[in-house]
Amino acid sequence: MRSRWIRLGFAAALAAVGYLVWNILTSGAQPASPNADSRDVETGRALYLRHCVTCHGDAGRGDGASAAGFATKPADLTDGRLMNALPDEFLLNVVLRGGPAEGLAPTMPPFSGYLTDAETRQLIRYLRALASPPFHPETAKPLVIGPNAPRQPILFSHVIHAGSFQIACQYCHADARRSEYAGLPSVERCMGCHKIIGAQDNPEIAKIHDYARRGQPIPWVRVFKLPEFTSFPHKPHVRFELACQTCHGPIERMRVVGADTGPKLADDLVRLVGFRPTSRALTMGWCVDCHRDQNRTRGAHAPLDCVTCHH
Ligand code: HEC
Ligand code: HEC
Ligand code: HEC
Ligand code: HEC
Ligand code: HEC
Ligand code: HEC
Repeated sequence: MRSRWIRLGFAAALAAVGYLVWNILTSGAQPASPNADSRDVETGRALYLRHCVTCHGDAGRGDGASAAGFATKPADLTDGRLMNALPDEFLLNVVLRGGPAEGLAPTMPPFSGYLTDAETRQLIRYLRALASPPFHPETAKPLVIGPNAPRQPILFSHVIHAGSFQIACQYCHADARRSEYAGLPSVERCMGCHKIIGAQDNPEIAKIHDYARRGQPIPWVRVFKLPEFTSFPHKPHVRFELACQTCHGPIERMRVVGADTGPKLADDLVRLVGFRPTSRALTMGWCVDCHRDQNRTRGAHAPLDCVTCHH
């Protein structure tokens, strides 16, 4: 019992140090003080009043004087349910480079000609302070750049769909629970929402309408892919309550899905000198390590024999 507390204390201390280091690394070497915080919020507010009210409104609710003219309404920046899951880097990118940088409508203009990076961060501090329910910086998680992310035919963002709007993974990947494949949503499924949402002024969404009109499926580029001589069934994994993220990473924070998978020469060299690197996703070692582990710790019956995975 005692040693568990010591271990917990140690873990907490490590986490605290990590958090501090992270803060120092990300805030230009200045540990934030409460005073600096409120000064940032004040400066952010002044910048907001100068640049953003015409569209987003005095209070940030998306009801500024010009809002009525837009098909896609300026975002309600006070809605914490939608805003809190959007990482700072996402907001920074939208404000500096405009809506299209994250697949949003071009009616959200770029401000890189008017605002510096530092000013934009102050503006974001102000937006965070508006959120209801409130934003908790200590639970915020950064954007994840999926390694080797391909260029997809449409800039479809999981940050917006799964992160901000919290559409359930299995609403779109509906076969995961009942078949070998997780499946990708059909054009019709996209159109279920996008017949209206974004149809008039977002060129990325207009592409969905083009595919629907031509009766063509959207040619998504595959990211997670095993060689033909193996088989991976989603159904038993999903039914055993393994979260999608265990194997795919924090998809809801990836602007474009990417993955670091397959064997790597560097790992093989490390193995040669006697170390045991953790297996990279989608290698055989990765499957087998988890199977052994789950059989031992959770009483699973995950196969270790060759033919179940190879046939
Ligand atoms: C000319 C009108 C206009 C101005 C000025 C404007 N915005 Fe926007 N903004 C929009 C529109 C329209 C959207 C919605 C885009 C969409 O959803 O496709 C938007 C979206 C956003 C979003 C994305 C929110 C989300 O939920 O994804 C952020 C953040 C944002 N604006 C911040 C700002 C800030 C900060 C300023 C001032 C520096 C600003 N905007 C100025 C029109 C404007
Ligand atoms: C359950 C409703 C729903 C479904 C289904 C849906 N979307 Fe969306 N989508 C949204 C909402 C809400 C937004 C945010 C609109 C905004 O703020 O401008 C959005 C935004 C977008 C955008 C602009 C932002 C971004 O992600 O880059 C694109 C492009 C998009 N969707 C593509 C798709 C595609 C492709 C599909 C089908 C694979 C799809 N959507 C399915 C609700 C949905
Ligand atoms: C609105 C529909 C929608 C929702 C909700 C959604 N996805 Fe997706 N997902 C897509 C589309 C479309 C693609 C193909 C484009 C891409 O790779 O981004 C995709 C791709 C993927 C891929 C990569 C597939 C490949 O090629 O290997 C994974 C993994 C994935 N999604 C997991 C998730 C998880 C986990 C969640 C929930 C956190 C989720 N998705 C929520 C529509 C959705
Ligand atoms: C135990 C690990 C694991 C879990 C859990 C898992 N996946 Fe997968 N997923 C994989 C592997 C491995 C592949 C590649 C399969 C292949 O190439 O045959 C894959 C492929 C995919 C694909 C590509 C297309 C397809 O139809 O298979 C999507 C989309 C996907 N997963 C989504 C999900 C979602 C959503 C969940 C949660 C409901 C989930 N995955 C849970 C390992 C996993
Ligand atoms: C994160 C852990 C994890 C990873 C990674 C994983 N599995 Fe599994 N797998 C399981 C568990 C747990 C079960 C057993 C579920 C049960 O007992 O019902 C299982 C079951 C299976 C089954 C048996 C299906 C059945 O119907 O009995 C196959 C086949 C399988 N996995 C293949 C793979 C392959 C191939 C990979 C790698 C590409 C892989 N798994 C990666 C956890 C994992
Ligand atoms: C839990 C699932 C699983 C089991 C059990 C399994 N394999 Fe594999 N095996 C895989 C996967 C997935 C790959 C593809 C990995 C890749 O591309 O790196 C693979 C790849 C291979 C390869 C190709 C070479 C390589 O390393 O990439 C050989 C040979 C092989 N397996 C033999 C076996 C033999 C023999 C057994 C039984 C002792 C076995 N496998 C058991 C999942 C499994």
